[in-house]
Amino acid sequence: MLITFISLTGNVRNFVKSVEMRNLEVDFSNPLIEINEDFIIIVPTYDSEITDIISELIEYKDNIKHLIGFVGSGSLNFDKDYCFNAKDLSNKYDKPLLFTFEFSGTNDDVVKFKKEVEEWNHQN
Ligand SMILES: Cc1cc2nc3c(=O)[nH]c(=O)nc-3n(C[C@H](O)[C@H](O)[C@H](O)COP(=O)(O)O)c2cc1C
Repeated sequence: MLITFISLTGNVRNFVKSVEMRNLEVDFSNPLIEINEDFIIIVPTYDSEITDIISELIEYKDNIKHLIGFVGSGSLNFDKDYCFNAKDLSNKYDKPLLFTFEFSGTNDDVVKFKKEVEEWNHQN
């Protein structure tokens, strides 16, 4: 499983560093990258442009065939809009929202996330 992500201010990047798994940072100014293996996308939450950028990545070549699901990073201060980009993408592409965390995540988030991905890897 490959962990792909975008990060505007570094929170998601820090989370990905903490989980120590194979990953690919996608540049939001050039999301057209071909991905030929199962992957998840970790998405920070800002505005609808984020959904558009991630949609470009998903719809590029055959990427959608390998997409497993979404993870959101956001802030609970945004209340009902918490992690709305990852939620919208999950609905749009009918793929699961696997996990959400605030900012760079806590140690507990890192442990839970790693466990979920490792379980998935064992089952597939
Ligand atoms: C301008 C701005 C708007 C944001 N809007 C939302 C939001 O609507 N919902 C949410 O859950 N988090 C929101 N956030 C929080 C970010 O998604 C959160 O800080 C995230 O961890 C950023 O990840 P990054 O540093 O990797 O870009 C917003 C942050 C900023 C600076």
